[in-house]
Formats: sequence, C-alpha cells, structure tokens
Amino acid sequence: MISEKMTAALNQQIVLEGYASFLYLSMASWCDKQGLEGCSQFMHRQSSEEWEHMLRLFRYISEVDGHALTPAISQPPHEFESVQALFQQVYEHEQKVTNSIHKLMHLATSENDYATVNFLQWYIAEQREEENLMRGILDKMKLIGDGPQSLYLIDNELALINKAELANEAK
Ligand code: FEO
Repeated sequence: MISEKMTAALNQQIVLEGYASFLYLSMASWCDKQGLEGCSQFMHRQSSEEWEHMLRLFRYISEVDGHALTPAISQPPHEFESVQALFQQVYEHEQKVTNSIHKLMHLATSENDYATVNFLQWYIAEQREEENLMRGILDKMKLIGDGPQSLYLIDNELALINKAELANEAK
C-alpha cells in the first residue's frame, strides 16, 4: 500500500507532466503560426508524450491503491520571443521535471517503497533522453546561428529529427 505522502507527491508530478503537455501544445501552435512546420510537428509529438507520462502516473497510483487526481492545469504562455527562446524554455522545463523525479525517487527510497522506486526508474531514463535531445537541438541552433536562412535551416533540422523519431517508433 502506497503512503499518503507518496501519493500526494505523485499527484503533484501529474500536474507537472500535464502542464508540460499543455505548454508544448501551446508551443506547437505558436510554431505553426510562424510557418515552422517541422518545429510544430515536433512540439505536437512532445505534447502527446507528456500526456502519456501523466497517464502512466495516473494508472500507477490507482494500481497501488492510491487515489489519482485529475490535475488543475494553469494556462501556459502563448507567445514566445523566438524559436531559440522557445527551445531554451523546453530545456529548462525538462530540467525542472528531472529534479522533481529525483525528489520523488528520494522520497520512495526513504520510505522503502520499492514498487515506486521501480516505477520511477522509467522516468529517470526518459528524462535523461529528453534532456539530451533538447540539449542537442539547442547546440544545433547555436551552430546554425541567427542569419537570414536560420529559421529555414532550424525547421529543416527539426523535420529530420521528426523523421528519425518516427522511424524509431516504427521499429
Ligand atoms: Fe515528462 Fe519530459 O517530462
């Protein structure tokens, strides 16, 4: 049986993952308005992934006889300074999520809640992948720079990443 403290902490993580899904959906819409189709598709997929991360927590809490709560999600921003600023924000949000997952792991360990420790391993690996992906995108953006063709090149890069991710999913 999961503790009330652990359940409350996992329910807080549901809020964070749900917010990430809404934030990335908002970013997808902004990218679409800028004509950045590759970036928009990328953010749509990230949004769906975050929704899945939220549901995974939701199902787990129920499975261990806790009470999973549907989150109140605050409205994310709708405007972004630039596509570079947008991806910087994504990276920072992912770092925040990683910190939060690490705190959950700390709590689960201190409570000897090995089922939750085991459940959280998946999130630790996922966060490592996501941070690495976002850092890679930011590095590419720095290489491409701010010249007149930069938006076109950045969008093409994101379209290539989408293709690679889709190919991975199909394996
Ligand atoms: Fe589920 Fe990328 O945080």
